[in-house]
Amino acid sequence: MSYLTVKDASKQFGGSVRALDGVSFAVERNEFFTLLGPSGCGKTTLLRSIAGFADLTAGSISLDRTALDSVPSHKRDIGMVFQDYAVFPHLTVAENVAFGLKARKVPAAETATRVAEALNTVRLGAMAARLPAALSGGQQQRIGLARAMVIRPKLLLMDEPLSNLDAKLRIDLRDEIRDIQKSIGIAAIYVTHDQEEALAISDRICVMNAGRIEQIGTPQEIYADPRTIFVASFVGTMNVLPREAASHLGMSDAAASRTHQWAIRPEHIRLDQGDAPSDSLRLSGMVEKYTYLGREAHVLAQTPAGKIVLQVADPSPALRMEPGSPIILTFRREDILSFDSDGVRLKGGGN
Ligand SMILES: Nc1ncnc2c1ncn2[C@@H]1O[C@H](COP(=O)(O)OP(=O)(O)OP(=O)(O)O)[C@@H](O)[C@H]1O
Ligand SMILES: [Mg+2]
Repeated sequence: MSYLTVKDASKQFGGSVRALDGVSFAVERNEFFTLLGPSGCGKTTLLRSIAGFADLTAGSISLDRTALDSVPSHKRDIGMVFQDYAVFPHLTVAENVAFGLKARKVPAAETATRVAEALNTVRLGAMAARLPAALSGGQQQRIGLARAMVIRPKLLLMDEPLSNLDAKLRIDLRDEIRDIQKSIGIAAIYVTHDQEEALAISDRICVMNAGRIEQIGTPQEIYADPRTIFVASFVGTMNVLPREAASHLGMSDAAASRTHQWAIRPEHIRLDQGDAPSDSLRLSGMVEKYTYLGREAHVLAQTPAGKIVLQVADPSPALRMEPGSPIILTFRREDILSFDSDGVRLKGGGN
């Protein structure tokens, strides 16, 4: 049996809103598991149900072989980190972290040791005596992390803990969170709607859409082997083309007959500079927009198959693409994915 098991979880608010609709998954000890999906897809509702802050309409949750259904939230041994730092402004950093241990009546000496340990883990040891107002946003969020970890929970839940931080800090802190999770060997569920963050930090990603699970897999599986058009489009950038584009994509009538949409990643399309492999397909187009981003550039091209974005790696600063310039795109048939009218990936055909 898995460490955490969520089975057929459904949550209905009021009459019609189905925030969760038959969600099942399992998380192993020591696993970093991420819930990824757009706003309103049910991520927070699921996390709150696991923490015991909300009841499921149907379904069950078990942790470490114990059914949680009738266990109140404060007895679930679950630590939670929220989006807003939720620190007590009038308590010092150390007092903030000690709060949960006081509530659990842990003796003072042990509390002091554990708080010091937790603060060192999140690299706030030197700031124990400060008030939160004297800390940066990233440091305040580390208080939240230390406070959740100090109770030595069986499971750590994090609901968009980095979304209030600037881009650089987000990257630093996400790597730290991942390192800390692995070093203390705890099961963690992390919520984000940032797909790059999910790819960077997770052992497995669970992509959610409208209260349902679209796909669960490693970052590589989710990105390179998406099972639905939703996953293909939500994670990374994807060119989605209509069935009618078949002939321009070198697709057979048989493949086209089952296909509703085609998809191909920008990095799988190259500018033809005479060096494409001989089995490549070619498509002529016209530059609509050129965006230079330093280590890569994006070209939006108008083609007979539709608008296509392609990626140029390490673009020469001299490369200029004026709108209206003709270009030739090359790609391989194997890199084209096909999806049926339910948005489900078809095997065979294009891929
Ligand atoms: N207390 C509530 N009462 C009624 N509807 C609710 C309540 N809480 C959430 N919902 C609805 O349930 C759905 C899922 O909400 P939830 O907060 O779980 O989404 P989310 O994936 O966390 O979104 P976000 O990325 O914006 O945080 C939404 O349609 C939301 O409006
Ligand atoms: Mg949320």
